[in-house]
This record gives sequence, structure tokens and C-alpha cells, in this order.
Amino acid sequence: MGRFSGKVALITGSSKGIGRAIAVRFAQEGANVIINSRNNDEHVAETIRQVEETGAKVHFIKSDISKVEVVYAMVKESVEVFGKLDILVNNAGVEINAPFWEVTEKDYDTVMNINLKGMFFLTQAFVRYMMENNVVGVIVNNSSVHEELPFPNFTAYCASKGAMQMVMRNLAVELGPLNIRINNVAPGAIKTPINADLLSKPELLGTLQNNISLRRLGEPEDVAGVVAFLASDDAKYVTGSTYYVDGGLTFHYTEQ
Ligand code: BGC
Repeated sequence: MGRFSGKVALITGSSKGIGRAIAVRFAQEGANVIINSRNNDEHVAETIRQVEETGAKVHFIKSDISKVEVVYAMVKESVEVFGKLDILVNNAGVEINAPFWEVTEKDYDTVMNINLKGMFFLTQAFVRYMMENNVVGVIVNNSSVHEELPFPNFTAYCASKGAMQMVMRNLAVELGPLNIRINNVAPGAIKTPINADLLSKPELLGTLQNNISLRRLGEPEDVAGVVAFLASDDAKYVTGSTYYVDGGLTFHYTEQ
């Protein structure tokens, strides 16, 4: 019996990277999972394969979470397919590298709509589902160390992550009386496709590694383990918190 036996989890942006690792981890612990991506490609097929290998059931929803009616439809579809929904992981996120003075309206909207608006209204749809059906669930957001730390050339990304921190804290207060918990994980530098550029540049990678206390980048599974903890009853008294999964990056300081 895994911690998530009989549970259903929806994980946004789960065709690759951290989202895939979360989907597989939930499946390994007994959940049936709904995965999501904007595209139906070979990455989706690979996540489905890895989830099915655990014996869990998986359903894929191809959707762009930046539209309100779309996220409401996602909750409806999830419940139709598996009969219920217990766990929401707001994982989908994008970043665009540009100096502040070159950020376009389109870039700004893309980042804010996926990272912030998507999680905001999908969470709202999930909360309404729970309230209407008198059931209790749990929410985990995949934020970033950049909900706290500056990240030059990624100002819209930082704005979205800083806002995710406050949405999470606010909802912990509003949803606590309903026994609905919400927390963030804040990954640091993790080996995922979002970092493809960095991973291909040894000199940048060396500098970054020297800024991480554990002297290595994280693996998607390192983050998935903490997400699973927060979604499980092991964390039943945890709400309104951010858990850093960053190898010590955020509070790293040295004079050598
Ligand atoms: C970003 C990565 C970055 C990491 C550490 C993450 O939130 O997506 O691009 O390397 O933070 O700075």
C-alpha cells in the first residue's frame, strides 16, 4: 500500500522534467495520474510509458492552462475519467531570458499566463470542485528559489514566482478552515530541459556549481520526493510553507 493508494493526482506540465518525475513518483506510491502538456509529442509518450510501468493508470490532457475555461474543463475531465481528484500539482512553468529593457508584451504574457494565471484559476477550479462535492484535497505548487532570489534577465519569471509565493500563503489562510492544504516547493538548479542551454555550457555550469553548497545540480527526482511528502499525510500539519529543494543554493555564502 503506497501513500497514494486510491488517490488521483493531476500534474500540470508533466511531459518532461520535474513534472514527469512527480507523475512517476505519485504512480509508484499508488496514485492514478492525469498528466498534461500543451503538445502531444514523444515526451508525453515517454511519461505515459514510465507511469504505466508502475502499474498505475494514466490519462493525458492536451491543454494550454493559460485559459480559464480550459482549466475548469481539465478538472471536469479528470473527475470524469477517474471519478475523483485528490491532489493538484501546479507544476507547469516557463522562463524567457531577456534583459528587462527588451522584454516584449508577448514574452511577459506567456510567462505570467502559464506560471501564475494558470495555477491561479486551475487551483480555483479544484477548490470549487472540492467545495461542491464536500471532499478534501491537497495542493502543491512548483515554484522556484526565484520566488525569493533575484534572477537577472528573468524579471517576469521572478515576478510570477514571487506572486506564487503570496497566492500560496493567502490560500493557506483562506482554505485552512476547509482542511485544504497548500504549499510550495522551490527548486534550485535542477537538470531539466528548462536548463538545456546552461547544461551545454561547462563554464557557466562550473560557476553555478560553486554557488551550490552540495556542489551539484539537482535531479528531477530530488524535487519529486519533496512534492510527494507535501502531498501526503506525512505533511498533514504543513500548510502555507515553501520548501527549498536547492542543494543549499539560496543561502549559500562563502568568501573563498
Ligand atoms: C530556473 C533555472 C535556474 C534555477 C536556479 C530555476 O527556477 O528555472 O533556469 O537555473 O532556477 O537559478
